[in-house]
Amino acid sequence: LLKILSLITLSIFKLSSYISMEQVIQPEITPMPRIGDKAPEFKAVTTQGEIDFPKQYKGSWVILFSHPADFTPVCTSEFMTFASMSKEFKDYNCELVGLSVDGLYSHIAWLRTIKEKIEYKGMKDVEVKFPLIEDITMEVAKKYGMIQPGESNTKAVRAVFFIDPKGIIRTILYYPLSCGRNFDELLRTLIALQTADEFSIATPADWRPGDEVIVPTAGSCGVAKERMEDKKNMKCYDWFFCTKKLTKTEIESKIKNRKK
Ligand code: BEZ
Repeated sequence: LLKILSLITLSIFKLSSYISMEQVIQPEITPMPRIGDKAPEFKAVTTQGEIDFPKQYKGSWVILFSHPADFTPVCTSEFMTFASMSKEFKDYNCELVGLSVDGLYSHIAWLRTIKEKIEYKGMKDVEVKFPLIEDITMEVAKKYGMIQPGESNTKAVRAVFFIDPKGIIRTILYYPLSCGRNFDELLRTLIALQTADEFSIATPADWRPGDEVIVPTAGSCGVAKERMEDKKNMKCYDWFFCTKKLTKTEIESKIKNRKK
């Protein structure tokens, strides 16, 4: 009986140590942030000094975006384009914050090279004035799901997070290493998000400011009937799909150059 008992004890011990070993070697899994989540918090060193994210951006929209590496061609074309458009984003109360897993001195050297040497598509003497985060430990990149091992273990993918003035993630876009982003689309998305908030509407496929917008779907039979009969203010393709006019001037008067 003593032998059986000691055998059972030994097996329990082996099993429990096996389980704890398993727990130790399991890779740390950080959940990816999702639309509607609070933007994960971090403090970081950047090319514009330390930042406390998203706390110090309260009251502004922020686009937090990652790029794979400094001194690479696609990233250089992206940075020049984004920096050249930064005034347009500012006009919509939006700050830009970049990130790569390179170090601060590499960032500084790369941004200096861009300003001093690179001329691309009519852009030259481009100064990147928005902060570029150094993230050699990948702590921030991991928090934001920017390291996607199927694509690369050592470089962040091209992620874009739109964060609203309350610190809530409103849109997430991911692109692979090989595909440079479309910055007109980023500006269009920012304006669409702000227009939807301001006018309680939605925006249809390929919407651009000035195009018709979608009114929320009728929530009762009465409203559905009213809408189908209202030929003056709305155009209904069917009771659940109605649009109305919203001019670019109306939009800009509400959301462009708005004081915080
Ligand atoms: C680039 O930005 O050019 C790049 C970076 C990483 C992999 C491939 C291209």
